[in-house]
Amino acid sequence: MQLFNSREELRAWRRQQKGTLALVPTMGNLHEGHLKLVEIAQQHADQVVVSIFVNPMQFGTNEDLDSYPRTLDADCQALAERGVNAVFAPQVSDVYPRGLDAQTSIEVPHISDILCGASRPGHFRGVATVVAKLFNMVQPDVAIFGQKDYQQLQIIRLMTEDLSFPVEIIGMSTERASDGLALSSRNGYLSTSERRLAPVLYQVLQSIAHAIQHDNIDPEQALAEARIALQESGFRMDYLELKRQDDLQPATADDEQLVVLVAAYLGSTRLIDNLPFSRNN
Ligand code: PAF
Repeated sequence: MQLFNSREELRAWRRQQKGTLALVPTMGNLHEGHLKLVEIAQQHADQVVVSIFVNPMQFGTNEDLDSYPRTLDADCQALAERGVNAVFAPQVSDVYPRGLDAQTSIEVPHISDILCGASRPGHFRGVATVVAKLFNMVQPDVAIFGQKDYQQLQIIRLMTEDLSFPVEIIGMSTERASDGLALSSRNGYLSTSERRLAPVLYQVLQSIAHAIQHDNIDPEQALAEARIALQESGFRMDYLELKRQDDLQPATADDEQLVVLVAAYLGSTRLIDNLPFSRNN
């Protein structure tokens, strides 16, 4: 497996490659969910590049940029064992040579400042910008993203379409622990009692989808009851909302393809999850 720390090295290698190439963008600290993305990538292309870059542009001032776990050696070992062809782990100065303030940025309108974007201003501008840069640097045919970050996935789909990137975006369904908790690097921050409580988040999403599909219940009522249930269990709510899948605008009675999305805190750990479903099953 090749390890590239600069875009020049990566480009020189990329120019010599034949066949199709899949990119799995990550911020490192890899868990089974990331390795599943690699597996899917290998099914869709001849070669797989994994990028590992803790992107400062998507962190807010009070967020965990400095303490975000950086585990490059262990990550590379796991990726080499999985037969990944190359890892691209650039320096911040290589990705943002003119500094963050001077960086041209990409903002996907209407979808970037709602849900997670409302409580993390600028976050999705940082994500869209770095993913566009990675597409230009790696030049993949296919890129794989987890559906756990549903809003991120839809923003990247829209950006790819709007900017005509010749990249196929594949969303991989969320990997879960046996008790239903979505796999995430941030699960490691949970205390033992918080970890025991965390799967309630997914149970609530399932019961909302079930109530809308089978009990003909008013979605707003189902959401209001679920917010109370989560608060009573010990979660501090950020949002719990029902949206239509494509662009995450409010779901109307005519929308068939829906997604219920949640963000809530357990202690100081912010957990997110979502469940896409069809209104009529
Ligand atoms: O999902 C992530 O890990 C990041 O947001 C991504 C897509 C790698 C961009 O930095």
